[in-house]
Amino acid sequence: MNQPDETTHFGFRDVPISDKQTLVNDVFHSVARRYDLMNDLMSAGLHRVWKDLMINALNPPRGEAPFALLDVAGGTGDIAFRAAKAAGSRFRATVCDINSDMLAVGRERARQRHLDDRVSFIEGNAEELALPNNSFDAYTIAFGIRNVPRIDRALHEAFRVLRPGGRFLCLEFSTVDVPGLDRIYDLFSFNVIPPLGRAVTGDAESYQYLVESIRKFPKPGAFADMIRAAGFSRVSWQSFSGGIVALHSGWRL
Ligand SMILES: C[S@@+](CC[C@H](N)C(=O)[O-])C[C@H]1O[C@@H](n2cnc3c(N)ncnc32)[C@H](O)[C@@H]1O
Repeated sequence: MNQPDETTHFGFRDVPISDKQTLVNDVFHSVARRYDLMNDLMSAGLHRVWKDLMINALNPPRGEAPFALLDVAGGTGDIAFRAAKAAGSRFRATVCDINSDMLAVGRERARQRHLDDRVSFIEGNAEELALPNNSFDAYTIAFGIRNVPRIDRALHEAFRVLRPGGRFLCLEFSTVDVPGLDRIYDLFSFNVIPPLGRAVTGDAESYQYLVESIRKFPKPGAFADMIRAAGFSRVSWQSFSGGIVALHSGWRL
């Protein structure tokens, strides 16, 4: 007898886990060219501040020490570029993303910024990285893990590719915990973001998915438990902007 397929969330919809990645890929194929502009419009530029807070936590060496960063679900390269700007001459970043359209935008941006010798782009799935064990000093994932169907697999892969002593950092939308702000945030999310998405990218549905997927993501304490379950030590998190986003950290010791 056939086993029923395991289900997961695609926004507020329950879908077979095997379908989620295709649905997510459609979202990012659709919005790739306007992805960075939409981030600025939706967050009023705040995503830049959150990303810089992640880079501060990463604290890549500014001197001559070599440093290898893997930025998974790295899309158009924002985290890798910011890290390269903060780092010394022997910094190298590998941006891994499952979506060729997002990567194409990223490669073009790297050329324009003259960073193509320090930042490289590879197509791959966070759940199954075609990368050797113990090969990176840090693993970052920003606004990406929410989209991955099997988050536990992605976390185990993060642990596997990090060197002992390596750092895991995950920036993700979280749970607004300031009374009053939660209602304003909900109103803004559901009433402004999808119409804005329609106006800028011609695609309201992808942005409806975005706001729904944020609501379905585990609360920070539960996500921290998942990071620990993957083997990480000294797991912690910090909330920013009233809980709109959280930065999670763990170490492979
Ligand atoms: C919201 S974007 C984040 C891009 C970038 N990190 C940033 O902060 O601007 C999410 C990215 O996750 C990628 N993604 C979704 N599922 C993935 C998977 N299983 N493996 C790798 N990347 C994935 C998408 O293609 C998309 O580029």
